[in-house]
Amino acid sequence: MKSIKDLRTDYLKSELNVEDLAEEPVTLFKKWLSQAISYSNDANAFVLSTVNSYGFPSSRVLLLRDVTQKGFSFFTNYSSRKSQEIEVNPNVCMNFFWPEMERQVRINGSINRLSEKESDDYFNSRPYESRIGAWSSPQSQVIKSREVLEKKIKELKKKYPNEVPRPENWGGYLIIPNEIEFWQGRASRLHDRFLYKKEVESWMINRLAP
Ligand SMILES: Cc1cc2nc3c(=O)[nH]c(=O)nc-3n(C[C@H](O)[C@H](O)[C@H](O)COP(=O)(O)O)c2cc1C
Repeated sequence: MKSIKDLRTDYLKSELNVEDLAEEPVTLFKKWLSQAISYSNDANAFVLSTVNSYGFPSSRVLLLRDVTQKGFSFFTNYSSRKSQEIEVNPNVCMNFFWPEMERQVRINGSINRLSEKESDDYFNSRPYESRIGAWSSPQSQVIKSREVLEKKIKELKKKYPNEVPRPENWGGYLIIPNEIEFWQGRASRLHDRFLYKKEVESWMINRLAP
């Protein structure tokens, strides 16, 4: 294996200038996301960091399912580790890395559950196997074996051969951003970084040193 000390990429693909920035960050985020989607299947994947009641952080990859001027949404199990941490601390951080575009976006915000209707609508749009899967998995809990899950799936398929209702502890979250940073890799580590910070009615924009 090549030594990781010798792995180096010089970022030359693009640049981010003041002229490229909209007054609010969601427009630029959507532009970057749609460009990333044209390069990769998992462009909507991001790392979500939460912090527990002792101040210890934890991170995991999730899939972004919607983005509007209201915020960023994803779906998960409301009894999972992340959800328990969100219950005690609604301040979260999202990070997208799009290597093909040499871009990174960091979003800090506070998080709320989506409405039951929004969770129902998304749950009902999922494939049958995923809906059964949501019932079968006590996400983040210790389980004895894989067989336990497989047995449960068989039982659930008998119980719900067609319609699968949404489990009460499965649904969506909306992250309402208060800071969004756009990072564009540039040559010789002189990257472009712009930070949007939410003010009462508008966004303050500053360039950050790389
Ligand atoms: C590419 C990718 C996408 C994922 N998308 C989701 C998702 O949208 N929702 C989810 O609950 N878990 C998703 N996961 C699994 C999570 O990373 C994580 O294992 C799970 O949510 C449990 O996290 P927790 O124990 O910290 O709550 C995804 C994993 C990967 C690698």
